[in-house]
Amino acid sequence: MSDQDIELEARLTEQEYFEPPEEFVEQANVSDPAVYDRFDEFPEGFEEYAEMLDWNEEWDTVLDDSNPPFYEWFVGGELNASANCIDRHLDDRGDETAILWEGEEGETRHISYRELHEEVNEMAAALRASGVEEDEVVTIHMPMVPALPVTMLACARIGAPHSVVFAGFSATALSDRVNSADSDHVVTIDGYYRRGDFLNHIEKADEAMGNVDHDPEVLVWTRHDEPEVDVSDDYTLVADLLAEHEGEEVEPVSRDAEDPLFLMYTSGTTGQPKGCQHRTGGYLAYAAGTCNYVEDIKPEDTYWCSADIGWITGHTYIVYGPLALGTTTVMYEGAPDYPDKSRTWEIAEAYDVDIFHTSPTAVRQFMKWGTEHIEGHDFDFRHMTTVGEPIQPEAWLWYYQHIGGEDAVIVDTWWQTETGGHLITNLPAIQDMKPGSAGVAAPGIEPAIYDDDGEPVDAETGQAGNLVIERPWPGMLQTVYGDDERFIAEYWERFSDTDSNDSEDWVYEAGDGAVQATDGYYRILGRLDDVMNVAGHRLGTMEIESAVSEVDAVAESAVASREDAEKGEVPDVYVTLREGVEESEEVRQEIVESIEEGIGKFARPNEVIFVDDLPKTRSGKIMRRLLENISNGEDLGNTTTLRDPSVAERIRDQIHAD
Ligand code: WTA
Repeated sequence: MSDQDIELEARLTEQEYFEPPEEFVEQANVSDPAVYDRFDEFPEGFEEYAEMLDWNEEWDTVLDDSNPPFYEWFVGGELNASANCIDRHLDDRGDETAILWEGEEGETRHISYRELHEEVNEMAAALRASGVEEDEVVTIHMPMVPALPVTMLACARIGAPHSVVFAGFSATALSDRVNSADSDHVVTIDGYYRRGDFLNHIEKADEAMGNVDHDPEVLVWTRHDEPEVDVSDDYTLVADLLAEHEGEEVEPVSRDAEDPLFLMYTSGTTGQPKGCQHRTGGYLAYAAGTCNYVEDIKPEDTYWCSADIGWITGHTYIVYGPLALGTTTVMYEGAPDYPDKSRTWEIAEAYDVDIFHTSPTAVRQFMKWGTEHIEGHDFDFRHMTTVGEPIQPEAWLWYYQHIGGEDAVIVDTWWQTETGGHLITNLPAIQDMKPGSAGVAAPGIEPAIYDDDGEPVDAETGQAGNLVIERPWPGMLQTVYGDDERFIAEYWERFSDTDSNDSEDWVYEAGDGAVQATDGYYRILGRLDDVMNVAGHRLGTMEIESAVSEVDAVAESAVASREDAEKGEVPDVYVTLREGVEESEEVRQEIVESIEEGIGKFARPNEVIFVDDLPKTRSGKIMRRLLENISNGEDLGNTTTLRDPSVAERIRDQIHAD
């Protein structure tokens, strides 16, 4: 680094706040702080977001909170999400690009709103002809190809909620979700590209169908014109269906605002993922509203969120929000380091991307790869978002300097699968940026920090606690699919008066630790429950443990989170073996494979550690916290509640022997 660079870095490191550039503020969709006052008119403030959509029927009640926590938004309103994301743009923007897709091998597709309309209509006709009915959940297991959003929007058009399963999930994870949602139709694809290889994807569906307790119809897209891998005769090729329905139009079904739009399964504190159910009206309003105010999206922008549509970020911030606003949304099929580490910046340059949205894991990776991969690429972002994990100030500064060229805003957005959209974030033209802090509450959102007894923690104290949300918002999940009790138990019970019918007595528990500074900015500290965040992917420790317990040799296991410079967190698996079984490379391999089979390769453990015993409380509960301390090389802390404190000490000595 030159002296000048060192000087600049020193200056930036000391700087606590960064002002948005004037040119940004001048063009921003929202720059008047009065927006917060408008949204403080609760719940009417949120009508501002709903008014960004086209409704077939106006709502008569903004919020029905008579039966908390089963809140209803925009009651009486009717709309269709696919019509809002496509049809209403046809007159003004029919020939503009809706989805700009780049395949890993370099092929590109510019799909105009008119073409998207055609494709979605044909697919909607195909689904209907295959027997998909309104309100039936369609499970979609697909990678980052245009057929994925086409299928989602086709489902939305005919009022069939979709449940998209991230392509990296295993056959077992897929069959669990198909069973849980009782899907009669599963949509998949023959394969896709990853780091230059054509991956056989359909084999996961083949295997999954053996574990589904009913007999769904499997519809298969093909990555090329013809299938590249064996496709079972029992399956239906989407291409054949589309040919039968060429040119057909399907009237978008008018859905009640409260009708579900989709399910998104996510990890919680048990071995079974839960289906977060999102409503049509409130969700879409919140997606469009935050894309407008937080992402600063304008129709003429090229916007690129590099997440995968298989997670919530892709649903809200690649598909529904951007398309509802009529912009151009970029989708890239493959890996950011294929064929080399400059791929991201080549795409940014080629398509003249204005807004770039990614994860802190990606930023840390770019930082590690070095600036030489960026140099020479001519791109100019005005807005950059991070999501999914805390971003350390060093990574933030690097992003700001080297990717943003010090003249783009960075927006660190905190939210969850359950929340539908951003809840803690700055509005980039209004607040200054503060590296390491997600920022303030989004308009109309009321976060707070509670201690373990449910008492609010005052920002002045600088004390960390449980992040909660004290009043409802339109993007919130409706329930856990088919399990209202679990919905209450997971999110509400702890800090609410569950006997009360007064919505003021109901508080949403996020499961994250946070601290609020006196300037009102929240810093998110990470999960307090048994959920891990591995490279921005949400994983349940109990899900990993339940996969490990499938291995015969294993007696007991516990998963601990280890801090990782690149991925944020990685799982360490501590295992005791059954009597008479010796530890071996084979057993280790079996455990790793069982996790890959139960969840997916992305959940592979950092280390499998064989131990004689696991630290337990007197009542026999495994103390993961101690294992976490050991994995992270920290002091053991308080061990007085342990049945046998020497167990923890032995494990520590075993791991940190040198
Ligand atoms: C974490 C992803 C710090 C948090 C949208 C949350 C964050 C979990 C941030 C949800 C952020 C999300 N700073 N941590 N800006 N955003 N998280 O459901 O622990 O995949 O509870 O939704 O990610 O993960 P999920």
